[in-house]
Amino acid sequence: MNHEQSENLSGGADIAFSYAPGKIILSGEHAVVYGCPAIAATLDRGVRIAVQSRKSDQKGPVLKASGLGFTGHVRPDPDGEGPEVLRGALARLIELYGDRVCDLELMADSAIPAGRGLGSSAALSVAMIRGLHRFFEEAVSPEVVAELALALEKVFHGNPSGIDHTVISQGGLIWYKKNSSELRVEKIIPKRAMHFAVGLTGPHAGTKQAVQALRSRASRHETLYQHIFAGISQIATEMRLAISEGKLAAVGELMNLNQGYLNALSVSTPELEKLCTMAREKGALGAKLTGAGGGGAVIALVDDDPKPIVNAFVKAGYLSFATKCETE
Ligand code: MEV
Repeated sequence: MNHEQSENLSGGADIAFSYAPGKIILSGEHAVVYGCPAIAATLDRGVRIAVQSRKSDQKGPVLKASGLGFTGHVRPDPDGEGPEVLRGALARLIELYGDRVCDLELMADSAIPAGRGLGSSAALSVAMIRGLHRFFEEAVSPEVVAELALALEKVFHGNPSGIDHTVISQGGLIWYKKNSSELRVEKIIPKRAMHFAVGLTGPHAGTKQAVQALRSRASRHETLYQHIFAGISQIATEMRLAISEGKLAAVGELMNLNQGYLNALSVSTPELEKLCTMAREKGALGAKLTGAGGGGAVIALVDDDPKPIVNAFVKAGYLSFATKCETE
């Protein structure tokens, strides 16, 4: 019996546990939607799920959520309960797995701040899928986990690039590029461990909204936006090399450059800029927003110890924590 599962006497799982981490984007958010390369890494905090047979006689499935920007019960049926998007995700699970999920209860506990561009919905999607497969005792390949997670991510984000659920289902640090003719996902092995301070401003208005608003701005200045996306692509290419060679000062400079472009794309905010400036003044090698922007989080790369920057963020009234990308 593996440690993530306990079995009843008839051989089926009584309860199955799963986990999926959050994510940060080091380079290329938004541009990735237009087929440009991006670099993403998993956070060392995530969503935990326990799946078991439903105890109540309510019509199910039931999601008992904690820390997902909502704490309480979610049921998908028309007179159900909970936020619409989470109800939509449960309804999608019924479409994907059939009525057998209606007899289940999924308990989810997230340590990823929700609505901050840190991949909480993609982590929930991947964790639910892994938990269901463990509960049903059905093997599943990482590719199929990613495919099912994308179906759930579409409920949360409309038509995402797929970078969030891909890095979350693979783990580690990845290079991601997707356009109409190719999908390239390649692991990057950092030569030196990379330590980050993450600083949180208020939640953003939503990834879907940010992507749509940018598309509308881009349509009015197509050539200029293409130049910006080309610049961001070049940053990702140079950053990938700098990460594999352990040149963290160069990675930091590239993050600062990427932040300049994100500001030009109007997805930064005065608060995000303030946190980036604060981190740089406190010695960060580089800082940028991560995810959709319009609020959310910044990541600051440090040479060694992220604590002084975490403390500076907290002292200024912003929630903050440290995370790292390991070498292998
Ligand atoms: C969200 O984490 C990243 C965006 O590029 C959207 C997407 O890739 O779907 C803003």
